[in-house]
Amino acid sequence: MSKVFDLWNEVGGAFGPSGREDAVREAIAAIAGEYIDDITTDALGNLICRKKGSGKKLLFAAHMDSIGVVATWIDDKGFIRFSQVGGLFKGDLINITVRFANGTRGVISYEEKTPFKDLTMDNLFIDIGAKDKADAEQYVQIGDFAVFEAPRFEQNGVLCGPYLDNRIGCVTLLLAMEQLAEAETENDLYFVFTSQEEVGLRGAGAAAFSVEPDIAIAVDVTDTGDLPERKTPMAVDMGKGPAVKVMDRSVICTPAVCAALEQAGADCGVATQREILQFGGTDTAALQKTRAGVQVGAVSIPTRYIHSPSEMCAVSDVEGAAKLLARFAVGQN
Ligand code: CO
Ligand code: ZN
Repeated sequence: MSKVFDLWNEVGGAFGPSGREDAVREAIAAIAGEYIDDITTDALGNLICRKKGSGKKLLFAAHMDSIGVVATWIDDKGFIRFSQVGGLFKGDLINITVRFANGTRGVISYEEKTPFKDLTMDNLFIDIGAKDKADAEQYVQIGDFAVFEAPRFEQNGVLCGPYLDNRIGCVTLLLAMEQLAEAETENDLYFVFTSQEEVGLRGAGAAAFSVEPDIAIAVDVTDTGDLPERKTPMAVDMGKGPAVKVMDRSVICTPAVCAALEQAGADCGVATQREILQFGGTDTAALQKTRAGVQVGAVSIPTRYIHSPSEMCAVSDVEGAAKLLARFAVGQN
């Protein structure tokens, strides 16, 4: 197994739906501690790691929260209704396993009388195998969050499993931090692991406000255009290198920052692709709109089946992204 897989297994296995990032934060802090000078947590739960310098302030951000579900109501038979935490697609949810913070597991199923194409979240429920409502309440209470549970594996240079979005971005930052730990640079480096991205980019803006960076770079997953019969063409393939974001639904990146990221890739032998994501947004947008505005860019890991329990990406794209970011961090004067 690759080092990327080992780190993803550790950071990706931690329970961390939006607003409940504590376990992820602890897992990351335990690894990050040896690479940096200072580590703090703010009121929103952002983890801010700093490698001090007197030069340019560069902020690198990866969100640590994941999508999930929250229990809203339990019926007399003990079936649990739920609402979504972040963007869920019903086709990804049928017959999958979810896990609550206390370890309770359940299966998501649906009301069969509703035609499949008409199903909404309201027709789905979680079955924890309870005898009745009182029995279910022993294990799950209203307001409890749950996350996808599925195996994580590495095969032929590819990672697969839940929550590459965005624990693989967190892993990318950790790898870049390791490479930068002994680097000769005067730049003031901030590695921020943000909270609540999946529910509306809520943590990143506050973190960037307090850091006041000269340039901010978000690291997250992006879609690919390499699957059979895709509806929307996209010039990003899994395994062809990290993608430098041009724009998505939430942001148009700063041209000079895009160019500098591509140059950093060229300087260290990492091939890059250009990303234009026609749906979805990232922390990049919140970083850009902080204070009087911040110059931003984003580096994305091309990922298939995003927001399903079986996301897929290439190890080499993650390694390339980390190398590129480390190069970018020392190259900005
Ligand atoms: Co996401
Ligand atoms: Zn994400």
